[in-house]
Amino acid sequence: MKKILITGGAGYIGSHTAVELVNAGFEPIILDNFSNSEKSTLSGLEEILGREIICYEEDCNDREAVEKVFKQNQISGVIHFAAYKAVGESTQLPLNYYKNNIDSLLVILECMSKYGVKDLVFSSSCTVYGQPDVLPVTESTPRKDAESPYGNTKKICEDILSDYVKSKASVRIISLRYFNPVGAHPSSALGELPLGTPNNLVPFITQTAVGIREKLTVFGDDYDTEDGSCVRDYIHVMDLADAHVKSLEYLSKQEDHFYDIFNVGTGRGNTVLEVVQTFERVSGKSLNYTIGPRRPGDVVKVWADTSKINNVLGWKAQYSLEDSLRDSWNWQLKLGAVV
Ligand code: WQD
Repeated sequence: MKKILITGGAGYIGSHTAVELVNAGFEPIILDNFSNSEKSTLSGLEEILGREIICYEEDCNDREAVEKVFKQNQISGVIHFAAYKAVGESTQLPLNYYKNNIDSLLVILECMSKYGVKDLVFSSSCTVYGQPDVLPVTESTPRKDAESPYGNTKKICEDILSDYVKSKASVRIISLRYFNPVGAHPSSALGELPLGTPNNLVPFITQTAVGIREKLTVFGDDYDTEDGSCVRDYIHVMDLADAHVKSLEYLSKQEDHFYDIFNVGTGRGNTVLEVVQTFERVSGKSLNYTIGPRRPGDVVKVWADTSKINNVLGWKAQYSLEDSLRDSWNWQLKLGAVV
């Protein structure tokens, strides 16, 4: 069974990807320092899979520790999720973000080279597009100046990967540009665990609905969109997980020195207010929200053209926004109102 190293594998997207890897016949090996994830996620994985997943509690920046994982396991491929990802926090702690997010990728690439591991799927983000001039965005839409150090680390890491492949390194790499990951495993055994006050929309909605937060503030309804609130492409985390599996399977058939980039979204845009209304319909709960000022750094509208990943990887989002919000709400009900 092919062993796949998942850095940040106890995180939100990493853990759901571990499930899909097992379902596809791979053996995930998790490496996580639990700086932004919880051990309870491993129990959730065991509940779904009926068995334990090997997990190394290590930091991706610790070269010796990461090498130990490569030494002890015959790794066939790597999915690199581990990174700090809070947009706002990155503007306060830029050096932490540059060091952590870039050094961790370099450690992984060095270990892959030393142990002859070719295949890597890198977790990138639609944030590299900034506010696109033309919508929907394709992979050839020009990247823009990042709105945050977090977004800039994603651009820099993409450039590192591209230059590394151009140097004829013996690797096959895909960068996946995620749009907005939402939802939870349909069993409610896994889901998003935002630490502290959620930055992202959907966990804030579910925490408001369950009584943890007093109200949701919609950051602006005076934008040039159909209802004045921002537009995003909300993709179910299970669809996103499946895109990683399809990427690994595709890489295994490619020639050496391979690099490509794919948008991973639904291809549909929804406004913040549409998400709120859909949540109310799906949950049967009336959400307490107010309209507040715009959030600095927000792009007005962005959603994906997914024709490339549809045609090349044979992947297409299967879950709807309703599915995502239903699964997020069921997960929140399981977590309860305790923070
Ligand atoms: C979505 C919309 C907000 C909270 C970021 C990163 C991206 C990825 C996902 C890591 C926006 C509005 C939000 C709230 C609101 N992160 N909103 N009230 O900013 O599109 O993307 O997170 O990979 O890289 O850039 O996601 O969920 O924060 O915001 O009105 O309390 O919801 O203004 O329009 P975003 P988000």
